[in-house]
Amino acid sequence: MSDEADANRVAGWFGDCYGRQPEGVWQAPGRANLIGEHTDYNQGWVLPFALDRGVLVAAACRHDGMLVIRSRQAPGEPATLPLATVAPGRVTGWAAYPAGVAWALREAGHPVGGASLAIDSTLPQGAGLSSSAALECAVALALTGLYGLDVPRPDLAILARRAENDFVGVPSGIMDQSASLLCQASHALLLDCRSGEGSAVPLEPAAAGLALLIVDTGARHALGDGRYALRRSECDRAASALGVRCLRDVAGADAADGLADPVLRRRARHVITENHRVEQAVALLRAGDLAGAGELLCASHASLRDDFEISWPEADATVSAAMDAGAAGARMIGGGFGGSVIALVPADQSAVRTGIGEEYTRRGWPPPGFLDAPPSASAHRLR
Ligand code: GLA
Repeated sequence: MSDEADANRVAGWFGDCYGRQPEGVWQAPGRANLIGEHTDYNQGWVLPFALDRGVLVAAACRHDGMLVIRSRQAPGEPATLPLATVAPGRVTGWAAYPAGVAWALREAGHPVGGASLAIDSTLPQGAGLSSSAALECAVALALTGLYGLDVPRPDLAILARRAENDFVGVPSGIMDQSASLLCQASHALLLDCRSGEGSAVPLEPAAAGLALLIVDTGARHALGDGRYALRRSECDRAASALGVRCLRDVAGADAADGLADPVLRRRARHVITENHRVEQAVALLRAGDLAGAGELLCASHASLRDDFEISWPEADATVSAAMDAGAAGARMIGGGFGGSVIALVPADQSAVRTGIGEEYTRRGWPPPGFLDAPPSASAHRLR
């Protein structure tokens, strides 16, 4: 859908909710990660790109110090919160994400006041496409836009992540918020998660006769269910057993062999080899060999499945079916245990889509969702 149609729809809905026109409409995209999974909180490298779907926020200032939030995905009463008392632990459910952003901005000294927000999303939720980060980033842009605050985007990404970590209580890394705020169309973002330095890497599948396809496996995950946090702590334990600050500091995969605990050895091996795969993928993309990166996607999937142990049956079956049907590469994306697979496929995607669909039917699973994933622009104001 076009930006204009999105903006009209959300502005119209804002009018229905609040009986006035919004002062602005913002959109922040979800992301897919080409490669570099579970490397961000190990201070390594990631290579995400922005999707052409995301979260939309229509907003207007209020002068009564209240934050009033409505979400089209959560019909019913709006969340109505006195801004001055918004603090971690006081807001639960979906409203904690936007409220957490207001809190993080104010905590950092940005004078954000009351606002009426109407939120809509074009992203499937829980599909591993970063709908939470898109929500945080859209609200961050809306609030700073309404109050005329010029916060550099890398800082905004850190504040949006703070909302998720310290307000909502989900221990995610910096990848998703950075992707939503810093990606460029037709590019992936190579982000060094230690220095925060990002650079745009050309990613134009159509020019290579290819396409990026997201397959929503239908299996749902929750980053807050403890398994993501467990992987984080295993990585921290592996790093200290290896005598380094974090796994980013280990160069060769052989180093992991020195770990006595077989679980920590596998976790470390994934992170070390995944960082290396990001580096290789970037070199291939910069050399114009996107198809060549397909093998790295498959190697990443195998590592996430066997060493990091976060894949799920639908993801494994999707990757196999995609490869059997002619994909150049495929892998699970996101936190794991549910969500989506990314596949690098021929521009004519029909054989891959059919092959995957037939595999789901054969296994008696509900049909998967398919989404085209052209590398798109970062968060922006629509009007
Ligand atoms: C989730 C988190 C990210 C990142 C990925 C795994 O999407 O929000 O910070 O850790 O999982 O790569």
